[in-house]
Parts: sequence; structure tokens; C-alpha cells
Amino acid sequence: MKKRTILTTSSRGLLEDTLPFRLFQKAKRFGVWDPADIDLSQDVKDWASFTHEQKVAILRLISQFQAGEEAVTRDLLPLMMLIAKEGRLEEEMYLTTFLFEEAKHTEFFRRVLNALGENDDLSCYHSETYNTIFNEILPTAMERLETDHSAEALAEASTVYNMFVEGVLAETGYYSFYQSLEKIGAMPGLLKGIGLLKKDEGRHIAYGTFLLQRLISEQPHIFEVVTNKMEQLTPLAIKLNQEGMVEDSPFQVNFEDTMNFTMKQLSVRMEILARSKGRRLEEIYQQSESELERA
Ligand SMILES: [Fe+2]
Ligand SMILES: [Fe+2]
Repeated sequence: MKKRTILTTSSRGLLEDTLPFRLFQKAKRFGVWDPADIDLSQDVKDWASFTHEQKVAILRLISQFQAGEEAVTRDLLPLMMLIAKEGRLEEEMYLTTFLFEEAKHTEFFRRVLNALGENDDLSCYHSETYNTIFNEILPTAMERLETDHSAEALAEASTVYNMFVEGVLAETGYYSFYQSLEKIGAMPGLLKGIGLLKKDEGRHIAYGTFLLQRLISEQPHIFEVVTNKMEQLTPLAIKLNQEGMVEDSPFQVNFEDTMNFTMKQLSVRMEILARSKGRRLEEIYQQSESELERA
């Protein structure tokens, strides 16, 4: 039988000054907002005043977020299992909040749809590229971790999940919500929830960046694995934007601006990771959360 050592009663204790533990502390303070507390009464009134085209544009965004949050909730466990098996206690502790928050995000969008009375099947808003990413590429990369525990498999999974889905696609989605609704002062409850979940996502992306930096610092060739994966995924981000484009946007959202925002996110993620090449493992663990966000 395999014998393990308990960490917290050993002289090691908990590694309290490391990045994963600091993210755990932050999540306990900021990740506990409740979707049920968000007032959607003004949103319901605004919805009734929207044109058909405006409703379609917002339903497309909500339905993509709804399915996306469900996907990341359902797909995270293999990564958590692998980190737990490796005995990385502080990372596992942080990941408990990660999954809790994704579940809350899934609840949030469903609450919005219920409040608006939009209970029809929304899968018509999931384009071909959307389905390829969320129903094939993401679950495949994550499920692979059930049997493949290599650094390469972990790096590819985190690139798809944290860098691409969270760091590029979701960030573009928030941008589109703000561009559509904030300037006309509509749907304040939806925007409030998005503001809160964007902060949760900031920690998720910070963890993914830390994880990839750790892998790159341990095995420098992992940087190439991540770069190759991002290059494979880039055309899908462009296609997804194109499929969501409509002539004469009902909220006057500029397509070029959205595309530029996506491309900027792609380059920022890679710039931050490039900095970890040649850095000592100790520095990766000690860095501040804000260092992970700066390009
Ligand atoms: Fe989320
Ligand atoms: Fe997330």
C-alpha cells in the first residue's frame, strides 16, 4: 500500500506566502457573492423595451456564456484530480474555489434567462466554431488528463482552458457585453453580475498563468507546446468573432474593435508567459498576482 505523508502537521506546514495560497485567500474574500442577491428587476423592464434584433444580439452572448460556464464547470475536475494526486495542497485548496465559482457563474446566467422568461432552446446561437471549441476541443483536452499525466498534456489543457477559453474568448465576451449595454445604461443587474464574475475569472487566469509558468520553468520546452497550441487555436477565435458578426449591429458595436480586442488578448497572454522562460521556480511561486496580469 502507498504511504503518504501529511503535510500540514509536518514542519512544512502550509506554504502561505506562495501564489496559489494567496489566490485562495482572495477567493474566500471576493468569490463568495451570491447570484441570488443580484436585482434583475430593471433588466426585465429593459428587456421588454428591446427590439427583436437587440434581444437576438444579447441572447447570443448570454447563451454562449451560459454554455461556456457549464462547460468549464463540467470539465475542470480532471485537472483538479491531477494536481491533487501530485500532492500540491495549496493549488488544490485554491482549485476548490475555482470550481465553486464556475458553478456560481453557471447559476448566474440561468437566473438571468429565467428572469427574462427566455426558456426556449438556445442552441441555435451556438455556431459551428463555438461547438468545436466547447463541445470537442475543451472536453477532449481536459479528459485526456484522466489518463495522461505528462507535463505536455497538462500544459495543453491549461492553454485551452485558462489561456484561450477564459483569457481570450470570455474576455472578448465581457467586452461585447459592455460595448452593447453599458453605453445605453441598460440591464444593470446583468452587468453587475458580469463585473463580479470577471473578477473571479481574473483569479482563474492568474492560476492558469502560474501553472503554465511553473511547467515552463521546470521544463523549458513546454513554452513551445503552449505556443503551438495557441497558434492552432487562434484561427478559431477569429472565426468565432466572424460568425457572431451582424451587419448593422443593433447596439452599434464596431466589429473591427472587437477583433482588435481579441488579437490583443492573444498576444498579451503569450507575452506574460514568455517572461517565465529562464526564471527560477522560487520566483514563480513568490510573484504577486498583479505581475501575472501585466503585459
Ligand atoms: Fe466562469
Ligand atoms: Fe473561469
